[in-house]
Amino acid sequence: MKRIDKSVFGPWAIVTGASSGIGKEFARQLAADGLNVVLVARRVSILEEIGRDFAGQFGVRYRAVQADLAHEDFLEKLAAAAADLDVGLVVSNAGVSANREFLAAKPATLLESVQLNVVAHLRLAHHFGNRLATRGRGGLLLVSSLMGLQGVPYMADYAAAKAFILSLGEALHSELYRRGVRVTVLLPGPVDTPMLDELGLMPADLPMRPMSTERCVAEGLAALASGTATRVAGRMNRVMTTLMPRSLTVKMLGDMNAKILARGETR
Ligand SMILES: NC(=O)c1ccc[n+]([C@@H]2O[C@H](COP(=O)([O-])OP(=O)(O)OC[C@H]3O[C@@H](n4cnc5c(N)ncnc54)[C@H](OP(=O)(O)O)[C@@H]3O)[C@@H](O)[C@H]2O)c1
Repeated sequence: MKRIDKSVFGPWAIVTGASSGIGKEFARQLAADGLNVVLVARRVSILEEIGRDFAGQFGVRYRAVQADLAHEDFLEKLAAAAADLDVGLVVSNAGVSANREFLAAKPATLLESVQLNVVAHLRLAHHFGNRLATRGRGGLLLVSSLMGLQGVPYMADYAAAKAFILSLGEALHSELYRRGVRVTVLLPGPVDTPMLDELGLMPADLPMRPMSTERCVAEGLAALASGTATRVAGRMNRVMTTLMPRSLTVKMLGDMNAKILARGETR
């Protein structure tokens, strides 16, 4: 089933963080809809492999761009790599999360996290937002998180970064609409990607099974296609975020992270 209108969002889509998890699945579903894809991440050999696979499966073209989005020069590099392409969609997805004690983190680590999880989204939205507005049609899809809906103890900078993305995208949804650019913010809950392992999460830590990348991405693309500003992925997540008092969510997530950190220390 095709969800994405190539005449609006094609012929090329850029996906950051396309070497793994949610970004890789975005690139796959867009390629399956016939869009050519610019795959962006640090591990370029994986991007090349993924691109060859999609080109073979779906008959699309691809470009693999090695870029570290935590470095200031990333945009110059990506802008140059995509300068000759008619880009209709940018999925700003790359991000990392970490559970840690805020006061124990090195300032340089926190700044690197802000560079990737905040500044990169801002700069991508600004540069490609301008290109898309000049073109008069296209889309930006920003990947936030349920963690962005409240502060999260032991993930303070990550949750704050995701709140920034949510606020930025929600504002741009209205601001860019009259320029023909659709903006959607996707807020996934736990999704089955390597990120969960890196956080040290175990199945028993979560109230339900993590969502598949396929479903999460399909919901994001459907929201973009229907012109929705913000979309929490997953029906249960939508119910929980509506019903749960914010203060209770902060406590629950803080307790969960404290438990995971304590477990890591005793390993
Ligand atoms: N999984 C979840 O439960 C969940 C929930 C809510 C939100 N999210 C959000 O979804 C997005 C994707 O996460 P995921 O779960 O798919 O994680 P993942 O499987 O670990 O993938 C992260 C992607 O980001 C790229 N990346 C990381 N640091 C980068 C850097 N400095 N420069 C360029 N690319 C970088 C990685 O590529 P390289 O390592 O090759 O650079 C990889 O492609 C993130 O923004 C995350 O916050 C995830």
